[in-house]
Amino acid sequence: KILILDFGSQYTQLIARRVRESSVYCELHPYDVSEQFIRDFNPQGIVLSGGPSSVYEEETPRAPDIVFNLGVPVLGICYGMQTMAAQLGGKVENALHREFGYAEVRAQGHSALLRDIQDRINEEGHGLLDVWMSHGDKVTELPSGFKVISSNAATPIAGMADEARHFYGVQFHPEVTHTLQGKALFERFVHGICGCGYDWNMPDYVKEAIGRIRSEVGSDEVILGLSGGVDSSVVAALLHRAIGTQLTCVFVDNGLLRLNEAEQVMKTFADNLGVKVIHVDAGAVFMKHLAGVTDPEQKRKIIGREFVEVFQSESAKLPNAKWLAQGTIYPDVIESASSKTKKAHTIKSHHNVGGLPDTLHLKLLEPLRELFKDEVRELGVALGLPHDMVYRHPFPGPGLGVRILGEVKPEFAELLRRADAIFIEELRASGWYEKTSQAFAVFLPVKAVGVMGDGRTYDYVVALRAVQTQDFMTAHWAELPYTLLGKVSNRIINEVRGINRVVYDICGKPPGTIEWE
Ligand code: XMP
Repeated sequence: KILILDFGSQYTQLIARRVRESSVYCELHPYDVSEQFIRDFNPQGIVLSGGPSSVYEEETPRAPDIVFNLGVPVLGICYGMQTMAAQLGGKVENALHREFGYAEVRAQGHSALLRDIQDRINEEGHGLLDVWMSHGDKVTELPSGFKVISSNAATPIAGMADEARHFYGVQFHPEVTHTLQGKALFERFVHGICGCGYDWNMPDYVKEAIGRIRSEVGSDEVILGLSGGVDSSVVAALLHRAIGTQLTCVFVDNGLLRLNEAEQVMKTFADNLGVKVIHVDAGAVFMKHLAGVTDPEQKRKIIGREFVEVFQSESAKLPNAKWLAQGTIYPDVIESASSKTKKAHTIKSHHNVGGLPDTLHLKLLEPLRELFKDEVRELGVALGLPHDMVYRHPFPGPGLGVRILGEVKPEFAELLRRADAIFIEELRASGWYEKTSQAFAVFLPVKAVGVMGDGRTYDYVVALRAVQTQDFMTAHWAELPYTLLGKVSNRIINEVRGINRVVYDICGKPPGTIEWE
């Protein structure tokens, strides 16, 4: 297994993805974990990530000394290479020519890391690599024992290696897809240099996970809040496989779900898989508490609070339950190096099934804690969940509550559900569902005048939103074809009586958020 030390780069998670794609288990931890931790982790290799700091500033993050004394291979990327150079006696300086974006570097073929890895070969027989750079500093003097293994005019030391100690550094970012040979480079490092086996794969993982869950839980009973989202669905399927009837799922229908969603969840889990699911039809309760409330934050708080209420009173009926299972995934667990200093603004108070209080007095069971989202999906497929469920767009905890602007009313929810279902159906039919990261309809409680047949209409407006994004932190609005938008608009207006106008949201994030509230 590989240890990745995070110096705060925005790409650190991609390093972990690359390593796992190579079928090797890895974990990501802040750069300043204790030496004892690193020793106990017993890695076969260590990767030092990039980061926003400059090594020649006064107080800068350093890799713990033990990284260079354990006798295992080390790969430093960008800042990771710079701190390696500085800590081992080389020199790093601010670069006159900063490099951001695409660059071509020459690879010296003698290095174990880069041998035969190239995109092209030039006239002199040197391999050339297309890479992604993002740096202001650079290594200007090698530490003793190191040689240059890649270079270009702007960055003469774009890669370095001490082959005897198996220490490698690259100034470019092999973890991003723009570095075309990035995958090959990681495979070389983890298999060729660190000697890791190919032991991280889904079928084995399922077996191990089941074994672990069984030994952890024993004969205890477990409760899980099932939302129908990917993470809780996969937890349900996994736990069901591991402990069968010791698992009880509580599915809270808050009246703010998508069209037929409750039926689908019950069909998939209760009917097809035979999971014990308590279906709580709490729509009326949620609507009662939401009546008259228009403020988005207040709505979010009410929905979150009511969920906890309902869940608590249901779980009180299961006195034998000792565990609460949650769909926490690895990105929620990682304590990034930069998060220590980052002070984020609260734009929206997020709520999801994970937000349950400790007053439940249950032990936490989080079987997806070490998986990335795409691994969770792969696991879902391996466990036999329907493809459409596993590859679904995300849906927020407060559901349609934040897609009905202003006061939430049951009749608005009904109109929105039907409009949304038409939009999603047409996206799927045209192949655009997979090309967008999230798409949905929003109900606007304003009325517009229209004409249908020979009659005047005075009805509500629906906005369509479709975005493309990697991380949901920033997003582009999707450039859906006009013909598709036209068809969706026609169908909604013809089929959903009460809506007579459809508009398309062409606002990115920032400045807009993905949801409208
Ligand atoms: P925004 O609207 O903040 O949304 O750009 C970013 C992503 O988060 C989802 N979202 C939520 N997810 N509970 C969730 O589990 C919430 O309260 C919540 N609010 C927004 C949103 O759908 C998008 O994917």
